[in-house]
Amino acid sequence: MNMVQQFDPAQLDLSQDYGTPAMNSEVEVTVHIDGMPVTVPEGTSVMRAAAIAGANIPKLCATDNVEAFGSCRLCLVEIEGRNGTPASCTTPCQEGMSVKTQTTRLDKLRKGVMELYISDHPLDCLTCPANGDCELQDMAGAVGLRDVRYGTEGANHLAGAKDESNPYFTFDTSKCIVCSRCVRACSEVQGTFALTIAGRGFGSRVSPSEQQPFLESECVSCGACVQACPTATLQEKSVIELGVPSRKVKTTCAYCGVGCSFVAELRGDEVVRMVPDKQGGANAGHSCVKGRFAWGYAQHQDRITTPMVRDSIDEPWREVSWEEAIGFAADRFNAIKASHGVDAIGGITSSRCTNEEVYVVQKMVRAAFGTNNVDTCARVCHSPTGYGLKQTFGTSAGTQDFASVQHADVMMVIGANPTDAHPVFGSRMKRRLREGADLIVIDPRSIDLVRSPHVSAEHHLQLLPGTNVAVLNAVAHVVASEGLIDEAFVAERCDRVSFKAWEDFIRLPENSPETLEAVTGVPATTVRAAARAFATAGNGAIYYGLGVTEHSQGSTMVMAMANLAMATGNIGRLGVGVNPLRGQNNVQGSCDMGSFPHEFVGYRHVSDDTVREQFSQIWGVTLREEPGMRIPNMLDSAVSGRFKGLYIQGEDIAQSDPNTQHVAAALTAMDCVIVQDLFLNETAQFAHVFLPGTSFLEKDGTFTNAERRINRVRPVMTSRTGRSEWEATCALSEAMGYPMPYESAAEIMDEIAELTPTFAGVSFDLLDKLGSVQWPCNDQAPTGTPIMHKDRFVRGEGQFMTTPYVPTDERSTRKFPLLLTTGRILSQYNVGAQTRRTENVVWHSEDLLDIHEADAEARGVKDGDWVEIASRAGETKMRVRISDDIPAGVVYTTFHHPVSGTNVITTDNSDWATNCPEYKVTAVQIRPVSEPALA
Ligand code: SF4
Ligand code: SF4
Ligand code: SF4
Ligand code: FES
Repeated sequence: MNMVQQFDPAQLDLSQDYGTPAMNSEVEVTVHIDGMPVTVPEGTSVMRAAAIAGANIPKLCATDNVEAFGSCRLCLVEIEGRNGTPASCTTPCQEGMSVKTQTTRLDKLRKGVMELYISDHPLDCLTCPANGDCELQDMAGAVGLRDVRYGTEGANHLAGAKDESNPYFTFDTSKCIVCSRCVRACSEVQGTFALTIAGRGFGSRVSPSEQQPFLESECVSCGACVQACPTATLQEKSVIELGVPSRKVKTTCAYCGVGCSFVAELRGDEVVRMVPDKQGGANAGHSCVKGRFAWGYAQHQDRITTPMVRDSIDEPWREVSWEEAIGFAADRFNAIKASHGVDAIGGITSSRCTNEEVYVVQKMVRAAFGTNNVDTCARVCHSPTGYGLKQTFGTSAGTQDFASVQHADVMMVIGANPTDAHPVFGSRMKRRLREGADLIVIDPRSIDLVRSPHVSAEHHLQLLPGTNVAVLNAVAHVVASEGLIDEAFVAERCDRVSFKAWEDFIRLPENSPETLEAVTGVPATTVRAAARAFATAGNGAIYYGLGVTEHSQGSTMVMAMANLAMATGNIGRLGVGVNPLRGQNNVQGSCDMGSFPHEFVGYRHVSDDTVREQFSQIWGVTLREEPGMRIPNMLDSAVSGRFKGLYIQGEDIAQSDPNTQHVAAALTAMDCVIVQDLFLNETAQFAHVFLPGTSFLEKDGTFTNAERRINRVRPVMTSRTGRSEWEATCALSEAMGYPMPYESAAEIMDEIAELTPTFAGVSFDLLDKLGSVQWPCNDQAPTGTPIMHKDRFVRGEGQFMTTPYVPTDERSTRKFPLLLTTGRILSQYNVGAQTRRTENVVWHSEDLLDIHEADAEARGVKDGDWVEIASRAGETKMRVRISDDIPAGVVYTTFHHPVSGTNVITTDNSDWATNCPEYKVTAVQIRPVSEPALA
């Protein structure tokens, strides 16, 4: 007798296509597939049950990341006691069902179906780019089709046109079998709804938007449709050019903080395509245009692959060996140390680099340089997250995993634009919103989520830039004054004294929506409705981005959100939490790895004697107990002649940091600037040593994403520089007198685990076994921690903090009457060093200034006109786009192109607690100018 095959999701090979999505039901049913008993959750399709039982039923229109459609009729089965031959993909299993997947009758029917498909398909398999990777071809083989009786004289689609407009994939309609997998992938997985089936019956066709070319349609080029397509109709151009891949390596995207897992598919040393990994903890098989397609920069001709040095920044670069470059840098840094002391040198780690690369930089600074002058680019983005969440919850990290959003009843999205900046998570959010969750958006702009196909925000609090804290105080005021506080949660989990102080503060009339309306620009009724929705909907989850942190009250705002989550009991379970959407791939990791001047790895203060002693012992060196300088302090100190040498790994501070003139003055004043990067970036203009960096395709190590998930980054191709970043750092450290003799990145992670309680269980072996883990990962949580603060906060009791609203000094005036705010768009990434060197430029070849029609008219400016934007810090020029996404009085731009000089106009205001620059509020004036001459 056959044993019943129990359904165990953990045992499934997720690389297999089970035909239809998994069901979550706790009720199970047992069916017999070709006599084999199999037990599955109720609602599971016969096709999926059969695949679990090892009987793969032929299929074309079904794939397991979209709902079944039942159109191709290839997956027919016989079910005992039922008439006919139902489609297995649309038939749910029922208890006791007995299914036959292989019979003579079924064989005949399936062959007939395939014959019809093949009769309307070009017979060019041998020259087709998908040859060997085509489900239609596979199915013809699976059903044993040898002949096609019908000719091609009747109506057919063989002369269908080819759409080559998208830079990354083709759409060859002659090969389309109208299975609709692409349409469903675009709707269900991506949530863009860019594709439809136009026409009816035999005349039906797949069509982007209103029968437009892909490039002109609403398509955002995520590639989900290409991945879903079972034929060569939608096909990557790289596959057409290079051929079907022959080997695979799993790795992690190096763009945003979502941290999507990919399978890099290669021929030899050449990447053919990047396929999002179905087993990826963060992305579950989805991706955006950057991760899937924009990896060409790794082979770009602009890459520098040989070390270079020069005595002064007026001289041309001299290519040298690694040994000479390291020796040159070490001599200069040692000379500065000897004549100016250890306070005259420091380093900046990169959130683009791996945890292991970051760890060795901060170790070199503390142990070899002998100072705590180390900081990270998180200073200019999420440092307030670190401060605010540590004060309230006890640790600097998002509280949830991404999958948690599937359990949210209401989402509050503040100062973030997930569909552009964190697109794969944005798609997950959209899915939940389509299922019925409510949405509150707090943002000066009408971001995509406010209104897009099948998604709209119930509450859009369109505040004036700089008034986040006032708005959130008003929301909390409503919660406190209308009896919406979760008293039981607060009593059980939070510090009573701080709660009482906060409650007294937040109930003050000065925090009421009515009082603050004039400040924030948000009608009190809108605030009240949003507050009630958040507090009463069930599970309330907060997601936020740089629109929260990059303000003079960034840290206050992070604490205000944490207060709100605690007051409403929205912490410590699925569907709730406070979640920073991290900008760069490894911002979380670079902060975790001890990049801040006051903290060792794992956020432990350098002044803590016990902690410092532990590091001193393992590193074999005496460590300083005084915190070092932050980036702005190092730059100020350089301008005043005291700070002389800076090691900058993978960061372009001359473009990304505020007040560009000041940064340039500081860099120019230094005796030795070492830049390690892929390209000669803006900062390299001021450098004396250039150490070539590796792309993520050459790296070995780990990245930690916004949900604390530690993902492996594996070398996909041979390094083009001959040395990884950690090897170069260790060589410099050794040349300065402090050897760091690691053999591998895995060995560095072992040391991190030894020194960091939240990483104690992490090793490359564990990551290779589990795919990824979310820290804390230790004896208490050997497979990681998807949700934090479940029974108690990391700090014990949750700490409420009072959050008085203090208006920024940066206000609109008669001279500068408009408020400029900034952000990212989907196709470009940060300062654009990578994405500008890919085909992504077709979507965004320049930064534009979005302006409301009324403001444009008042200045005599039309769409596409050039304007000068002036602030009290400086001025720059760009073209305008009239937009109703922003209110009158506010202008908006991106910062992806150096020529736009966005940071020339941002001021040196910064967060009171962390010095994070106030990028999101700059008072400006604009005036029309003629097109500037090319530089
Ligand atoms: S383009 Fe591909 S996925 Fe879309 S309907 Fe045609 S064959 Fe199916
Ligand atoms: S690439 Fe993405 S957005 Fe564009 S049509 Fe395909 S699934 Fe839709
Ligand atoms: S969402 Fe972020 S991590 Fe994922 S593919 Fe896009 S850029 Fe990469
Ligand atoms: S796979 Fe079931 S009808 Fe197409």
